[in-house]
Amino acid sequence: MKILNQKISAGFEFPVLFTRDALNLKNLALGWALDRLKEPGRRHAMVFVDAGLAQACPELPGRVESYFSYYRRRLALVAPPQLVPGGEAAKNSFNHALRIVRALLEQHLDRQASVVVIGGGAVLDLVGFAASLVHRGLRVVRLPTTVLAQCDSGVGVKTAVNFGAAKNLVGTFAPPFAVVDDFDLLDSLPDRDWRGGIAEAFKVALIKDARFFRWLCRHAVALRRRDPATMARLVTRCAELHLEHIRGSGDPFELGRARPLDFGHWSAHRLEVLSRYRIGHGQAVAAGIALDAAYAVRLGQLPAKAFHDLVQGLLQAGLPVWYPELARRPRGRPLAIFQGLEDFREHLGGELALTLPHGVGQRREIHEVDMPLMGQCIAELKQWNENFSSADCKTESVKSA
Ligand SMILES: NC(=O)c1ccc[n+]([C@@H]2O[C@H](COP(=O)([O-])OP(=O)(O)OC[C@H]3O[C@@H](n4cnc5c(N)ncnc54)[C@H](O)[C@@H]3O)[C@@H](O)[C@H]2O)c1
Ligand SMILES: [Zn+2]
Repeated sequence: MKILNQKISAGFEFPVLFTRDALNLKNLALGWALDRLKEPGRRHAMVFVDAGLAQACPELPGRVESYFSYYRRRLALVAPPQLVPGGEAAKNSFNHALRIVRALLEQHLDRQASVVVIGGGAVLDLVGFAASLVHRGLRVVRLPTTVLAQCDSGVGVKTAVNFGAAKNLVGTFAPPFAVVDDFDLLDSLPDRDWRGGIAEAFKVALIKDARFFRWLCRHAVALRRRDPATMARLVTRCAELHLEHIRGSGDPFELGRARPLDFGHWSAHRLEVLSRYRIGHGQAVAAGIALDAAYAVRLGQLPAKAFHDLVQGLLQAGLPVWYPELARRPRGRPLAIFQGLEDFREHLGGELALTLPHGVGQRREIHEVDMPLMGQCIAELKQWNENFSSADCKTESVKSA
């Protein structure tokens, strides 16, 4: 036997710009992002816009055209901005991805050309996936337009579409060329999507940054009331923590089993499926991290006070901590939510590894779950949901979620 050992290291580098009013003609951020390598010639680009965003901001595609026209010496828009259906449904059909692939090929984009995607996490995933297939990967400049996408999915290195009944089953690792987080784009979000990203911030704070966690608890009400400056701080810190994690984990392309940023997600993903996606991802994550934090308390690795602060913070931010789907039990069978553990185990290749908080701002992995104990935690969350008596939050509890 003869073995030739091959080792390749490929560095990836991408800037994340934080700005406001990115399509204002005086704002250089997007132009800079597209032209950041200062190559000769004009930067050719095709732009895809989330149709849900375009419905809320009908002037947006026109503003994109004006921007490219204003900077035409350096930028060239190869076609009018294309609308892409927004939300999870867009990821459910391969046809959408194929349509985007075809559109990119029709414009003869080469590997130096850029695909600009303006939209929520679903559209970023879908267009990013298609763009990563064409010529084995075009440059993608993302303008995330939801809180979740600005602080989490939009600054990450993954793309995916759903396949069969499984979420994110088919996808690629494809770091973006640049990301432009424009806080003003969040203004048109419905409350559900505004709040959804707050859950991801609590998630990452509780396992990585105690100070940020306390800050979130203190500012939960301001966040729910849509204070723009507070949200800008949340997005910036949360994006920073994600970038740090991807850079510092030693496993940016998730070859190992550890998935710290999936804290709370085994039940969250299952809640989404059990509710047929009526429950939004962020809302499901809120309940999922509350559940796993309750479990961490019972394991003795999280002070009860931290759990109380978390639940109070989530409720004050207008997020739920419990859904009836958590307690759904098919006749004579275990709770339906526990299928989420099996799905997660399978996704990780057979061995379960769940990240739980270990003190505030730190984490520890566990490999076994005591189902009766987890069942008790579900009952406890139901109690919390029912008992929470702050006037500010009562209307935001699951009854109205
Ligand atoms: N790739 C990753 O690493 C990663 C990580 C986390 C989540 N995700 C994915 O992200 C998706 C969820 O993304 P999301 O939470 O951003 O929601 P979303 O993309 O589903 O968008 C929610 C809704 O808001 C609309 N919308 C988007 N921006 C808007 C705006 N500014 N104003 C008004 N409406 C707007 C959309 O059209 C959609 O109807 C899921 O599919 C999830 O799997 C991916
Ligand atoms: Zn998530």
